[in-house]
Amino acid sequence: MASSTAQIGVTGLAVMGRNLARNLARHGYAVAVHNRTAARTHALVDEFGHEGTFVLASTLRDLVDALERPRRVVLMVQAGAPTDAVIDELSPLLEPGDMIVDGGNAHFADTRRREEALRPSGVHFVGVGISGGEEGALHGPSIMPGGSAEAYESLGPILETIAANADDGSPCCAHLGSDGAGHLVKMVHNGIEYADMQLIAESYDLLRRGSGLSPAEIADVFRTWNTGRLDSYLIEITAEVLAHVDGDTGKPFVDVVLDQAEQKGTGRWTVQTALDLGVPVNGIAEAVFARSVSGHADLRAAGRSLAGPEAFDASSGTVAPDDVEAALYASKIVSYAQGFHQIAAAAQEYGWSTDLGSVASLWRAGCIIRAGFLDRIRGAYAENPALSTLLANPTFAAEMGEAQGAWRRVVATGVTRGVPTPGFSAALAYYDSLRADRLPAALVQGQRDYFGAHTYGRVDREGTFHTLWADDRREVTS
Ligand code: 6PG
Repeated sequence: MASSTAQIGVTGLAVMGRNLARNLARHGYAVAVHNRTAARTHALVDEFGHEGTFVLASTLRDLVDALERPRRVVLMVQAGAPTDAVIDELSPLLEPGDMIVDGGNAHFADTRRREEALRPSGVHFVGVGISGGEEGALHGPSIMPGGSAEAYESLGPILETIAANADDGSPCCAHLGSDGAGHLVKMVHNGIEYADMQLIAESYDLLRRGSGLSPAEIADVFRTWNTGRLDSYLIEITAEVLAHVDGDTGKPFVDVVLDQAEQKGTGRWTVQTALDLGVPVNGIAEAVFARSVSGHADLRAAGRSLAGPEAFDASSGTVAPDDVEAALYASKIVSYAQGFHQIAAAAQEYGWSTDLGSVASLWRAGCIIRAGFLDRIRGAYAENPALSTLLANPTFAAEMGEAQGAWRRVVATGVTRGVPTPGFSAALAYYDSLRADRLPAALVQGQRDYFGAHTYGRVDREGTFHTLWADDRREVTS
């Protein structure tokens, strides 16, 4: 039996798991490592054993035996049934106070279920969102832990050591609340990621079709934007992708890629969860649906001949890059506002003490949506933790006001020139809905009461009412 020397164990050594184990070892932790296929474990130790102390475990029993108490076992396996299978095999080997740390992209409801199931045994179950891909796992991810405060007391210092650091040196890792809070925050991170990517894609589409710029020239536009308020990882990599030339054809890479976006599901989960919580995340939803539309080749083939404006090109009037920049920034703020609203609503629903300022703080580096303006979002919530929406923060509200003209011109251009901008349009519709003194929902209530007697409220007095539509149309108190 291996001596109990390792501070932490990792099972599941595909690229993410392997890189996380390396990151831990590079920071001086003795790391017990295990993989179902033992060859992967040997390959890790053979290739990277010089980076730190690895304790090779051939079985989960060996892995557990190699760990100091309280034992900390990180699962880096596929979400869903594979994770359940490892938990079922591992948990009987653990003792009260030990912990299972799920670092996969698990659905937060699964994490809540798993945490509740393990609680009687005294084994902690900690769902941890890890963002930043393979490079992040190795060099410093943004880490979003849930689970009990007791577990975090033991696990948190280790995670904070290996996490990315924001410019002010603070680790991009903080306890976000009990049970599934961490995986919920990671899920919403991915929802915002989808929205961000869709808005960038719409910006590119408008510029490509409406300004006559080549992908390489548009890459330069994004590089310029990346030096300003849009400074972010996704803008940075967009410039790289657009500047890339396909080796086979010599054409712009973006022109040889099949225009059908795929999705592993975390964006979809975000929207499903928002629907359950009653939180409007239409910007994120449109980003998910835009991927779905792109994948329906049959639908698109049938639609190709539908009437619409002539192809939009520079000869028919251009779109100003500065206008697109403003529209992108304003729509991006709406997407983050919607995401933070969802996190706050979930925290209230599930009784988590999730601090939105902490969420913004640990998204400043390491994760896919890392962006310069996240420090200002952190500041907004630090200034007013009870902010009902990010859009109510005076600084962001002023920026939204300044972006009005450009934002509306860009959406109008998309509409009049037949360039789909579901992300920009949804963000603007959400913004205008928040601004409206009266919404046509009043008519919807009337319709519902007419056909379903579903009742309605009144603006001029308390109560619930119904009109006798089929009778003398008297109003009765319901
Ligand atoms: C991250 C990424 C990561 C993964 C995406 C891909 O935070 O490191 O978001 O989780 O790359 O989930 O998701 P899609 O395939 O759904 O775009």
